Amino acid sequence: ELHQQDLQSVVTGPGTGSAAAVAPVEVSPSAPAAATSQDTAAVPGLLPGETVVKEGKASIWFPSANEVFYNPVQEFNRDLTCAVLTEFARETLSLRGARVVVPGEKERVVVCLSDEKNGTKGEEASVPQEEEERKGACLRTASVGERCEEGLRVLEGLAASGLRSIRFALEVPGLKSVTANDCSAKAVALIARNTQHNGVSHLVQASQRDASMVMYEARGRNERYDVIDLDPYGSPSLFLDAAVQAVSEGGLLCVTCTDMAVMAGNNGETCYSKYGSVSIKSKYCHEMALRIILHSLDERANVYQRYVEPLLSVSVDFYIRVFVRVRTGQAKVKNSASKQALVYNCVGCGAFHLQRMGKSIVCVCFSMKYSAATGPPVGVSCEHCGQRHQLGGPIWAEPIHNMEFVHKVLAAVSGNPSRFGTSKRIEGILSMITEELEDVPLYSTLDHLSSTLHCNTPSMLLFRSALLHAGYRVSLSHACKNAVKTDAPAGVLWDIMRCWEKNNPVKREKLSETSPSYRILSTEPVLQACFDIRADANPQSRKRHLTRFQENPQANWGPKARAKAGWVRTLRLRSEGLSLLFKT
Ligand SMILES: C[S@@+](CC[C@H](N)C(=O)[O-])C[C@H]1O[C@@H](n2cnc3c(N)ncnc32)[C@H](O)[C@@H]1O
Ligand SMILES: [Zn+2]
Repeated sequence: ELHQQDLQSVVTGPGTGSAAAVAPVEVSPSAPAAATSQDTAAVPGLLPGETVVKEGKASIWFPSANEVFYNPVQEFNRDLTCAVLTEFARETLSLRGARVVVPGEKERVVVCLSDEKNGTKGEEASVPQEEEERKGACLRTASVGERCEEGLRVLEGLAASGLRSIRFALEVPGLKSVTANDCSAKAVALIARNTQHNGVSHLVQASQRDASMVMYEARGRNERYDVIDLDPYGSPSLFLDAAVQAVSEGGLLCVTCTDMAVMAGNNGETCYSKYGSVSIKSKYCHEMALRIILHSLDERANVYQRYVEPLLSVSVDFYIRVFVRVRTGQAKVKNSASKQALVYNCVGCGAFHLQRMGKSIVCVCFSMKYSAATGPPVGVSCEHCGQRHQLGGPIWAEPIHNMEFVHKVLAAVSGNPSRFGTSKRIEGILSMITEELEDVPLYSTLDHLSSTLHCNTPSMLLFRSALLHAGYRVSLSHACKNAVKTDAPAGVLWDIMRCWEKNNPVKREKLSETSPSYRILSTEPVLQACFDIRADANPQSRKRHLTRFQENPQANWGPKARAKAGWVRTLRLRSEGLSLLFKT
């Protein structure tokens, strides 16, 4: 049993309660990324069998057995989150009268007029002096590792070793506090030791609670967090109701999902129970997964007259990660139904159509009018191949990124590449994202189009050129290597493939008369496709050979097993009359 006093001793700070007090220790920067305690016998505080892991600016101790969770392949996730938090802090703090100082970013020296009057002007003046820069130069500054009174209050609900929270404290400027919470006693003891070891006890507070309870208790307007990070085992669905309430006005929710089998269509019914949306097996399943979690977040926020604004949504390796702002507004929430859509997916040829859940119209007097949507957008059978449609969703059908925000994160990382171990990959993925067609949900894939017809595959350049010649827009997607994201209707894609097939014929006698291939190829194309290569068919991210999709860089790459379950421990929170059962 862990009584309230024990709980408080853990919550009030590292080095107390079950956590051993350890003097801060500097680990040599030349130390290997991971070393066992035998190799690092000189490291005071390291317990027998423990391992030292270095990631970003943090040096973290881990028990040898899998008692506390750590997955090195999520370094990209943590780097990207530090980059996003930095931009979020830059924006938020400028509204609060402070300016963040990011290590490695070149500072522009700007004359501050008020200082000039006082005779304390800077050595050089930048030319031209933009108003914004002058204003910025006069603000208070917030540096990494410093507690900033106007800074962000951050909660990491599921913190494991505390690596992520400690990295925030060491690498993100403009923070007021970071609460690193985990329900596991072993994890929290480790967070406390690691916090002290990294010298960030003034910023990071270890907490042993159920993450939902921490968030429910923070719902009050003054207690809410500016940033909540949820990085669970599998699905975050259990925590979303509390999270959408506990984040401040305009605050940032950062959510990881690793239950990709469920979200990518293996278990549509389970997906519905967790996210209120049916996933379907499809070529666009990774983007659909992003749209499912965005739908779920918005739907839950709507209950409390709140709504989400996606800033960045990333599908990478074996997981997805979304960053959304949460705002409040009764009028805006009325618009939410029209932001969601059902997906009709043809089981034969994979053609898809979206059906919005509601309709919103701007009236002459600029007020909004809402009504039921009309549909369906498809007939009983597919107009291209004659087969049936599956129904998926509802999914978020609006843009999944805020391009202005993505450009800012990208510019900051590209201009300061030594800041993160995975900067090259961040640059590659964000560059692709900035090229994505914002207003076109989902995509087809070249290999699926050609395998449906049983013909060989045109090159991406040829196919994209044909779409551009036909007057449509086209982009890749960061979520899938062969994606063709386009505003062209499915009929146009099939016409281009029909034209391609004429030069690369498929043996008709091998096709069943009821197959999608036979049906599609039995119709003459309306459009005469032109396959002359166009210069604008080759996207910049491809021309620049950016790291967009990386091969699995290690053996056993993927989600890691949960940390070993220990004994079941009851936390009795007597004063609150709550009894919570935790597995630690
Ligand atoms: C995937 S790990 C977190 C990894 C960590 N964010 C990182 O970047 O290294 C998930 C953690 O959630 C904790 N956890 C699971 N359920 C929880 C709950 N209801 N409340 C608080 N923590 C919980 C587990 O103990 C585990 O340490
Ligand atoms: Zn079809």
